Order: sequence, then C-alpha cells, then structure tokens
Amino acid sequence: MTQKVQITIDGKTVELPTMEATEGTNVIDVRGLISEGMFTYDPGFLSTASCDSTITYIDGDNGILLYRGYPIDQLADQSNHLEASYLLLNGELPSQSDYDHFEDSIKKNQAIDKKFQQIFDGFMQGAHPMAMVGATVAGLASLYHKDTDITNHDDRIKTAHRLIAKIPTLAAMAFRHGAGKEFIEPDPSLDYAENFLNMCFGDGGPSNVSPTLARAMDRIFLLHADHEQNASTSTVRMAGSTDCNPYAAIAAGVSALWGPAHGGANEAVLNMLNEIGDVSKVPEYVEKAKDKDDPFKLMGFGHRVYKNFDPRAKVMEESCKEVMDELGIEDEPLLHIANELERIAREDEYFIERKLYPNIDFYSGITLKAIGIPTNMFTVIFTVGRMPGWISHWHEMLSAPYKIARPRQLYLGEHRRDYVKIAAR
Ligand code: SDX
Repeated sequence: MTQKVQITIDGKTVELPTMEATEGTNVIDVRGLISEGMFTYDPGFLSTASCDSTITYIDGDNGILLYRGYPIDQLADQSNHLEASYLLLNGELPSQSDYDHFEDSIKKNQAIDKKFQQIFDGFMQGAHPMAMVGATVAGLASLYHKDTDITNHDDRIKTAHRLIAKIPTLAAMAFRHGAGKEFIEPDPSLDYAENFLNMCFGDGGPSNVSPTLARAMDRIFLLHADHEQNASTSTVRMAGSTDCNPYAAIAAGVSALWGPAHGGANEAVLNMLNEIGDVSKVPEYVEKAKDKDDPFKLMGFGHRVYKNFDPRAKVMEESCKEVMDELGIEDEPLLHIANELERIAREDEYFIERKLYPNIDFYSGITLKAIGIPTNMFTVIFTVGRMPGWISHWHEMLSAPYKIARPRQLYLGEHRRDYVKIAAR
C-alpha cells in the first residue's frame, strides 16, 4: 500500500504519493508539485532520485554494491568484466552460449577504421589522453549516425556492443599516441583485458602480457563498470534524454568523468601521493585537508553515497597487493604513504565525523602505476571500465517512456526592468 505525504503551502495542503524501492530508500513523487506552482530545491541532487532503475544498487551506510543484485565482491572474485558487462546490459548472467555470442560480437567490433584512426594525427604531442578519448568517442557518431535507430532495441544493443568493444582500442591508441608509438591492432585471440594491455605495451608480435596483470586489469574494469546515478552516468542520461546520437551522449559522460571530484580523482591521488613524497609529511597534509581555508582535499577520500567503506576500495587494495607480489615490488613508497594516510584519517575526528573513507580511486592509481599505466591514463582506464554502465543506463532509459531532462531553478535575479540606452547609463 503506497503511503502519501502531505505538504501544507500557504495554508493549502498538498498530498503527494510515495513510491517503494525493492531495496533501499523509498521516494516521494513530487511531480504533482508543479500544478501547485512549487518546485523542490536540491543543488547537487543530494536527496533527489532522477529516475528509477534496476541496474545497480548502492547501500552507502553498509558498503554494499550490487550489479543487477549480485554483490560486487562475488563478481570481482568469480566473474570477469565482459560477463559483468553482459549482466549490466541484459539484466541476467549469461548462459555459456549467450556469453560466447556476446564475446564474439565484442571481438568482431574491436577494430577502428583505418581512416578514422587519422583523427589522432590532429592531436599534439602531450595531449591529455582523456581529451583524445572524449573526442574520438564523439567522433564515432560520424561513423554511426544514419544507421542507428535509437527507438529500435536491437540497434541500441548493437550500439552497446560497439562501444564496449571499441573503447579499449581507442584508449590504447591514445596511450600509444602519447608514447609516440605505432598503434597495435586488436587481437581477437586475446581476452578483453589482455588485448587492451597488449595494444598498449605490445610490440606487434605475440602477446607476452602477464596473466596476473591481465586479471588485475580485468578486475579494475569490472569494479568501475557501474555505480548507479553518479555524475557521469547522470550526464549520459541527461544528454540521451534529448534523443541525441548515443555516441555523443557517451562522449558527454566521458567529459563529466574527467573531473578530479569524480573519475579524475585516481590521477589526482597519484599526484597527491607524489606531492606528499614521504610518510613523514602525511600529518602535514592531513591538517591541510582539514583546513577550511586550504583548498587541498585528500583525493580518493569521501563519497556522496558511501558513508562507510567503499566495497570496491577493499577489493582494489587486495588487487594492489597481488600485483605488487606478482611484480616482486616489496617496497612501494606511495603505498606506504597511502596506508599511513588511511590510518591517520580513520583515527581523526574530522574524517570520522564526516564519514570520509577511501573510495575506489584511492588504491586504483597505485595498482595502475604498478601495471605500468602512466598517471595521465588513469581516468581513461576508468572510462573503459565505466562504458558498460553508461550504455546500459542509456539503453534502460530508452527502453521505457521518458521525458527530456529539464530541471527548473530558484530565480534570485533582478525583477523586470526596462532597457536603458548606453548614452543614458
Ligand atoms: C568517484 O558518485 C559516484 O558514485 C562516484 C564514483 C563512481 O563510481 O562513479 O564512486 C567515483 O567519483 C569517487 C569519488 C572520487 N573523488 C574524490 O576522491 C575527490 C575527493 N572527494 C571529495 O571531493 C568529496 O568527498 C566528494 C566529491 C567525493 C563527495 O562530495 P560531497 O558528497 O558533495 O561531500 P562534500 O563535498 O559536501 O563534503 C562534506 C564535508 C565537507 O566538510 P564541511 O563543509 O562539512 O566541514 O566533508 C569534507 C567537505 O569539506 N570533505 C573532505 C573531503 N571530502 C569531503 N575534506 C577533505 N578531503 C576530502 N576528500
């Protein structure tokens, strides 16, 4: 039985229905407020549900993350990024034949048209790889525009397969362009993550990617695959709500992810750890982070939803140690600084009171550095991982009735006034 809430405005009582969640927080359906001439006000959308979704569930207080109901730690331990991508897109884990068909479709779509590759010639040496990836993802709209009917289910699935397939290739091309190296074509004989690492670090011959590093890379992709209505996914939904080309909508998500408050945090974490430079300097930087007058924040700490631990951070920390062991790295100074930062923050009232814990970005950068990924490629890795989440939310939105996203505002500007000619000003 749905409950109702009552709001009294200027002596008039408005009754609003509620909607019940299958997990987590129920919502008040405020759509009826417009007919009463009222808006809700929620900058940053801290207590606003922009949509309903069946894809991912986060319980921030208990550190729970479910992809279509499956716990992230079980998927990280027993599944792989392609299977998780299939799950996010289709809603169920695949049978073996479903998986084989999906994997085959991804492998068939990994290549980038030779002429399209020339887009990279336009980027200067030193161009940030996120700028290159954002531009090339948007550029895919030039290849797939007339033949993409966004109202057609199969066209939407085909678009999803193309993007999941091509994003590692574009990411590797951005990496190779930055390194001044020739591109390496995708190798359909390799698994998803191994193929990505081979396109980045290979020499054009048979792959010599370490299975442990490929597994770690695949797990990093999986951990980043989706996260409900985060800023970049909300951007994809907002852009997609205008019925724009899906590659353009995804490119908008790439742009939003780049910010250091969001997916750009992993790069910012490494830069922060390098700036701190030594465990002895940690207390000084913790104090800077607490200082209201100092813009410095502990990158990789805090989260809008997780007010306890980020379950992905725990898996990421385990993965980090596995990679270090595999590579025989016994003494990584940045890891010592990170561990000391976490230790102090967990004991400090400022962080405890504000429920600030390490998020996924805190340890991912150290792992990526150990794998050999340069710092400016970290958010590109996040982009590769998040692609299935973005396109699954786009597909979910377009699979049911939707409206163009058009928020309102609280206007605090000037009252109406008449134009004054410049001579009279
Ligand atoms: C991701 O949304 C998602 O799901 C995102 C993501 C995903 O998978 O898509 O999980 C990926 O983006 C993870 C977050 C990565 N960003 C960072 O690590 C950057 C550092 N973190 C902060 O910028 C911040 O914690 C946010 C942006 C993550 C969350 O910001 P909120 O929820 O708006 O919280 P807030 O800024 O209002 O902070 C509340 C208080 C403030 O202090 P007071 O004004 O109450 O005194 O906590 C303080 C903040 O100053 N605070 C921090 C801090 N984060 C928050 N103080 C120091 N260091 C920090 N990192």
